[in-house]
Amino acid sequence: MEVAVVLLFSAFLCLLLHRLLRRRRPSHLPLPPGPRGFPLFGVLPLLNPDILGSLFRLSKRYGPLMYLKLGNRGTLVVSSPAAARAIFTTADAHFANRPPLPTASMVTYERQDIIFGTYGPRWKLLRKLCVTHMLGARPLADSAPIRREEVGILLRSLHDSCDAPVVVPDALMSTVWNIMGRVLLSKRVYEDPPEFKVKMRQVLAGNGFFSVMDLVPVMIWLDLQGFHKEVRDVHLQFDAMISKMLADHAASAKEREGRPDFIDLVMQNRTGSDGETVSDVNIKGLILDMFTAGTDPAKVVTEWALAEMVSNPEIMKRAQSEIDQVVGKGRRLEEADLPSLPYLQAICKEAFRKFPPAPVGLPHCTFEACEVEGYYIPADTQLFVNLWGMGRDPDVWEEPMEFRPERFLSDGGRGAENNFELIPFGGGRRVCVGKQSGLLLVQYMLGSLVHSFDWRLPAGEKKADMEEKFLFSLSKAVPLTVLLSPRLAPSAYM
Ligand code: HEM
Repeated sequence: MEVAVVLLFSAFLCLLLHRLLRRRRPSHLPLPPGPRGFPLFGVLPLLNPDILGSLFRLSKRYGPLMYLKLGNRGTLVVSSPAAARAIFTTADAHFANRPPLPTASMVTYERQDIIFGTYGPRWKLLRKLCVTHMLGARPLADSAPIRREEVGILLRSLHDSCDAPVVVPDALMSTVWNIMGRVLLSKRVYEDPPEFKVKMRQVLAGNGFFSVMDLVPVMIWLDLQGFHKEVRDVHLQFDAMISKMLADHAASAKEREGRPDFIDLVMQNRTGSDGETVSDVNIKGLILDMFTAGTDPAKVVTEWALAEMVSNPEIMKRAQSEIDQVVGKGRRLEEADLPSLPYLQAICKEAFRKFPPAPVGLPHCTFEACEVEGYYIPADTQLFVNLWGMGRDPDVWEEPMEFRPERFLSDGGRGAENNFELIPFGGGRRVCVGKQSGLLLVQYMLGSLVHSFDWRLPAGEKKADMEEKFLFSLSKAVPLTVLLSPRLAPSAYM
């Protein structure tokens, strides 16, 4: 009863404030079309649990630039390649910020990281450090031996457990986290510290950076389920773990003399040419970004690609035979082989189209009111690009629900990328800073796995379960479990 009274009273207060504070729109231009929604909750009550599908269906009714209220946040939803082009090119400067979502702020040390960092000198310096010392072409080539060793460990362990069921996402997760741990901190992290995988899974599973409550401030205030307390607890535990890892890293600096890792290089270059500096908290935020956004999407899309391939044996066979022709069966696939494998690359593109790991990208936000394609966009409007919907739009793709890598064979997908039809890494100033690295990792892991093993589903199943779960990323609801048999000479697994 008390809760109901508080809710009603808060709703009344918010409505009153909304009316009082509502300024007249300083433009003769219309807002983009969109559904009207309800006070406080906006269109949330109109969306069914299939949020991505609901948004896409609404955009088919209202158009590819659709304005609506998600909770009480003004939101622009982009759902066509032409609209994405307009946003990420001519209007990009207006949308270069991120919205201050309360859950994300709590997790990212009050937005001291790159992903949710305010657009400005600090964010630029953090991005520059990443490109110069980890994700640009040269540092990426320098870290090739780490990827080679870690993928080798994965192949050996799968080889040793052949004929026992393998839970693919678990195997992939250990590989991507260990690669990232070694690049960042010279440390294989999956089992050391022992709580690492549990804590990181909690960070990713606790809805990661988003909560519906962020959209309706009165719900945060009430927080009846204690969701925010839970997120804060997980964050504090993550912080304690990372602080300890950084202290151990500093204590062992001498052991790495002459071969610094990424965190060593960041520590040595904390001040940018404009005098901007990176704090200890920024470094923790950076580590959080890398162990989440820098690992999970590659794992997720590789699992989806494998699920499609075990369900479509002709695609699997064609990929294996392409790799056999280039690599043979006497050795493992190397990163240097990838440019000679157009079909494998097309499979990765097709997986990114159908299963974009960040299905609505990451939210952008306008600094001030602006005009896009003849529409008025208010200040503080958050932006989502429905990559998932665009990848399944029959107006853009022929038979979009078919997994058909051939559609990218003629030009390697360049046309689709240039036309903003295939943009799994987002676009504009906030485009994914790990785009090259993510693409390389997916191609290398996927190619190595399909070359090294024959794949089958347990208990004679013909098709993998393809149900989707949308949390921080577009995960498989049922983890892919397979049986493997080796297909290379035994020495290739040594
Ligand atoms: C398969 C791989 C990946 C996919 C599909 C992916 C996708 C994305 C998307 C859609 C965004 C948002 C872009 C936007 O706001 O328009 C993003 C941002 C970001 N990604 Fe990735 N990503 C991948 C791999 C990586 C890797 C390997 C790293 C780092 C090692 C990384 C680090 C980041 C960071 C730091 C941002 C925030 C950029 C900013 O706000 O300035 N990602 N990613």
